[in-house]
Amino acid sequence: MTDFADGGAFAAETIERVAAYWNARPCNIRHSPKPVGTREFFDEVEARKYRVEPHIPAFAEFARWNGKKVLEIGCGIGTDTINFARAGAHVTAVDLTENSLQLARQRARVYGLEDRVRFVLANAEELNQVLPPEPFDLIYSFGVLHHTPHPDRALEQLRAYMGPHTSIRVMVYHRWSWKVFWIWCTQGGPRRWDLDRIVAEHSEAQTGCPVTYTYSRSSARGWMERHGIRVERVAADHIFPYSIEEYKRFEYKKVWYFRWMPAPLFRLAERAFGWHLCLSGKPAPGLPD
Ligand SMILES: C[S@@+](CC[C@H](N)C(=O)[O-])C[C@H]1O[C@@H](n2cnc3c(N)ncnc32)[C@H](O)[C@@H]1O
Repeated sequence: MTDFADGGAFAAETIERVAAYWNARPCNIRHSPKPVGTREFFDEVEARKYRVEPHIPAFAEFARWNGKKVLEIGCGIGTDTINFARAGAHVTAVDLTENSLQLARQRARVYGLEDRVRFVLANAEELNQVLPPEPFDLIYSFGVLHHTPHPDRALEQLRAYMGPHTSIRVMVYHRWSWKVFWIWCTQGGPRRWDLDRIVAEHSEAQTGCPVTYTYSRSSARGWMERHGIRVERVAADHIFPYSIEEYKRFEYKKVWYFRWMPAPLFRLAERAFGWHLCLSGKPAPGLPD
């Protein structure tokens, strides 16, 4: 299993290829058919995102960060960013790609929240070169660090933004998930045994993502602990239950086996085999300044 970041399956990938992929199609940009950049567009993107990923608000706990400083790594087009800002947080939102940041900036303007968000174009693996050290109350990163060629380097950089009371919340993809099993069964073909490659190829809405690491619970925990973070909680969540063709038409029809599964059983399956590993932690005591 190659989930040890710097020696992992994607260590030879370039950040330029990663940036080109996300610049070509910012994450969730097709969540609404309305004109991109309008208020209606952003409203629909948010409604669809939290409809299909309802665990995000509970994980982020937006309201809790009122008046606090939040550092978001990989903000994409800013769905969570805006919710932190709306809840009263002072947000520093970092992303690798100009196209995502432009939309996130526009989104802050549309909702009159531009004073609450500082946007930073940067590679998380080299963040210290761009963003001076300062402690944040929350460091948050949802679905990002598994897409960078060297996740170890990115976590290392984050130490400069941790104080003794900083909360850290990170979502990375789960190796032992329904989604990986589904990709393996349906997309593998003759390359089925190159699991890292086929998962990366099919992990996102648009095929061909250059880097997608996946983690077991213990490897994710170990990864964070190697970087001085004491992990308090690791929770798997999120199985996508909808038929993809209908979903692309903005219809929410579950595939037959999830349609007939009782809701409590589906929740149990999500907690065991969900695609999102949501980790919460704090700097370990004695973290050097
Ligand atoms: C799957 S999207 C998630 C976006 C957002 N967190 C969300 O949940 O909507 C991944 C984002 O990570 C960004 N990203 C990937 N590698 C990065 C890196 N090394 N530094 C900063 N951002 C990165 C991409 O540009 C993209 O916007």
